Parts: sequence; C-alpha cells; structure tokens
Amino acid sequence: MSTDDPLAWTRDYTPILRSLAEQYGETKPLDGHRVALASHLEQKTGVLVETLREAGAEVLVTGSEPHSTKAAVVDALRDRDGIETFVEAGMSEEAWEAGQHELLEAEPDYILDDGCELIAKVHADHPGVAETVIGGGEQTTAGITRLEAMEAEGVLEFPVYGVNDTPMKHYFDNVHGTGESSLSNVMITTNTMLSGKTVVVAGYGYCGRGIARKARGMGAQTVVTEVDPRKALEAHMDGHRIASMAEAAGDADYVITSTGNRDVIRAEHIEHFPDGVILANAGHFDVEIAVPALEEAAERVTEPREGVTRYHLPDGRRINLLAEGRLVNLTGPHSGGHPAEVMDTTFAMMFEAARDMLTGSAAELEPGLYAMPDRLDRGVAERKLETLGVAVDDLTDRQREYYEEWQHPDSAF
Ligand code: NAI
Repeated sequence: MSTDDPLAWTRDYTPILRSLAEQYGETKPLDGHRVALASHLEQKTGVLVETLREAGAEVLVTGSEPHSTKAAVVDALRDRDGIETFVEAGMSEEAWEAGQHELLEAEPDYILDDGCELIAKVHADHPGVAETVIGGGEQTTAGITRLEAMEAEGVLEFPVYGVNDTPMKHYFDNVHGTGESSLSNVMITTNTMLSGKTVVVAGYGYCGRGIARKARGMGAQTVVTEVDPRKALEAHMDGHRIASMAEAAGDADYVITSTGNRDVIRAEHIEHFPDGVILANAGHFDVEIAVPALEEAAERVTEPREGVTRYHLPDGRRINLLAEGRLVNLTGPHSGGHPAEVMDTTFAMMFEAARDMLTGSAAELEPGLYAMPDRLDRGVAERKLETLGVAVDDLTDRQREYYEEWQHPDSAF
C-alpha cells in the first residue's frame, strides 16, 4: 500500500482543475509568466499549483497564514521544476513574513492573493516589482475590503479581479463549503449529534443560510437571528424560526455565528444560555463571539476536549466555546478546510482570473478592482456541469430574439 503522492486523493475530487490542466497543458497560455500564489498550503492548493504549472507558469507559493501549511504538500511541490515554495510547516510568523518578501523579490508578474497579503506588501515594500506586475486576483472577503481601501486611496498599481465576489464563489464556497465544513467540524470537535437539537444560526447571508439549511437537513430545529429584515423574512419563508439572540439563547444547544460582524454574542446573552451550550464561529476572524465577556463571566476555565474551552459560571452553568472563537471550519483541531469539490470551483475561478488577464484582458484594464467577467464565471459553471455529465438546454434563436427584441414604445432606438 502506497501513500507516496499526497495530492492523489484531492486530484480525484477536483475535476474542474484537472480539465483545465488537460486543456491548457497543451497550449501553455501562461508560458513565460511568473505567478505568485498565497493560499493555505494544503492539498487543494497543491492541485491548483500544479494546474498553473501545467498551463506553463512558473509558480511561487506562500501560505495565507503560518499555521495552515502541510509539510507533505510542501515536500511534494518543492522539488518540481518551475515551482518554488516560500513557506514551511510550523514556521514562525516572522519567518512566514520574511518568506513572502523573498517571494516578491523573485519578481512575480501576476499575484493570486488571499487576504490581500502579497498585494499589500508588494505596494508597500517592493514598489519596483509592483510596477511590473500585470495583474492580480483575490479570493477572500477580507482581501476585497483591503483592495477597496487601496483603490479609494488611489494607490493600486495594477488591475485585480475580485474572485471572491463571483456567483461561482459565493453560491458554492460560502453556502455549501462553509455550511458543510462548519457543521462537520462542530460535530467532530464535540463528538455530539445535531439531530433533535436546537441550532441557532446568527446571520442568514450566504454562509448562514448554508449552515442553517444543512443543520435542519440533519434533523436539528433551527433558529435564525438577523439584523436585516429581508434576510429574516427569507429565513422565515425557508422554514426557520426567527428570534432575537436574547430570546434564542435560552433554548440553544448550539449557536453558530456567521455575520461578518463583531460581538454578535456578548455579555447580555450569556445570562440566557442553558448549561452545556456549545458556541462556534464560522464568520469573521475571532470577534463574532465576545470571548472577553465569557472570560469575565467565568469563575473558572477548563479544556474538557481538544478544541473546546469551557467557561464555568458562578451559578454552575457551563458554556463551551469551540476553536477559541476562531473560524471553526478552518482553525479547529480537526479542520481540513472546505471540501475539495467546492475549492475546485473557487480555485478554477482563481486560475481563470490569471489566464484571462495574462492572455490579454489586463492590457485593456486601468489599475483598480474589477468584477470578474461573467463569461469566465459561466465558463467554470459549464465546465463543472461537464465533469458531472449533466446537460442543460440552449436558448433557441427565437428565445434569444425574444429577450433582445423588446423595446419601450417611446424608445428612439
Ligand atoms: P453576508 O453578507 O452574505 O451575510 C452576513 C449576514 O449577517 C447578513 O445577512 C447580515 O444582515 C447579518 N448580520 C450582520 N450583523 C448581524 C448581527 N449582529 N446579528 C445577526 N445577523 C447579522 O456574508 P457571508 O458571505 O455569509 O459571510 C459571512 C462571514 O463569513 C464573513 O465574515 C465572511 O468573511 C465569512 N466567511 C467564512 C468562511 C469560512 O470558511 N468560515 C467562508 C466564507 C466567508
């Protein structure tokens, strides 16, 4: 029995990347380009790296943060021709930062980024390199926020595609990826079952609706808290109970936050929680659950299981917090990140961002943050359907004309 190739399993579950590698492995559209990639350096990223390489790029790789790097993946990539890694498993934050600067000194001409780490650094510390970068792509909400700030300040030197904001990312990565991986990590970390329990989900955006729908699919009673009345109505019409956090807290077996906001669970909610409630965050950094409020309320803190912090309140109630309030699906002790099939879609969008810009579109774009063209998003969806062997209908000519021919009676055109 051999486990020599650490990427083999993941390749089986990333058919879109395989089909891109097959198609562009022949024409090599990225030949002569040096593509920098920042992403959690684990198996799925490894497959994206080899896909970029197949398409002809020299690939310079770093991690999105120092702790998520997998040694086996670095080992698998390090000795391959045309691939250079600037990150090691278990490295310190300082060494990770230094590795990113070393990567930028190698003068990439395209940057596929996570959290705007490389794009911010190239502008701040390597202005000569920034001048020669043709373009970039960004895969996270946090990175888009930073890029918007850079654009508003007028400091962005090249065009960047907001991969994060595409339908192919939001509808699948956020809804299904975050939904499944958050719930599976909650269950694995606690060794408890959702069926028959009350799961409170804070936020009914892309991530929250994925979590709530899938929790209900597993037999949980679901309660949604919101601040946007339309999202609350959507949750209501989808069949979830709506409540304020103060009201929902009293019945909760689990509370999972995914709002992008801070202090969604705070001191005033702690008094309502029943003994043994399990709290987890699947949203923004570690700020959605106000951990200092739990620390203040507790007379004692213990760790009953790996990844579970238990706050013992003076009245005897125990409140369990998973992964210290950090993203439960990415930083929990058993976390494997999003499922491979869903990262296949997101990484295909990252690949297409690089291919499209480096084969022409960047030349037509001024520096700035751009929505990815719909044709690329649609193309990845079509490729995914092909890999599934699923057919869709084409518009007939008559149907296309019907869409296009209507004019307002007063129209001059
Ligand atoms: P979204 O904007 O679609 O949804 C957020 C929802 O939270 C909105 O409906 C908003 O009205 C609601 N909300 C805001 N403040 C609230 C409060 N105090 N109480 C209740 N509801 C509140 O955003 P999306 O795409 O669902 O992302 C949510 C967060 O999850 C973001 O921080 C995003 O970066 C993060 N995220 C996490 C992932 C993971 O792997 N864990 C993956 C993708 C996104």
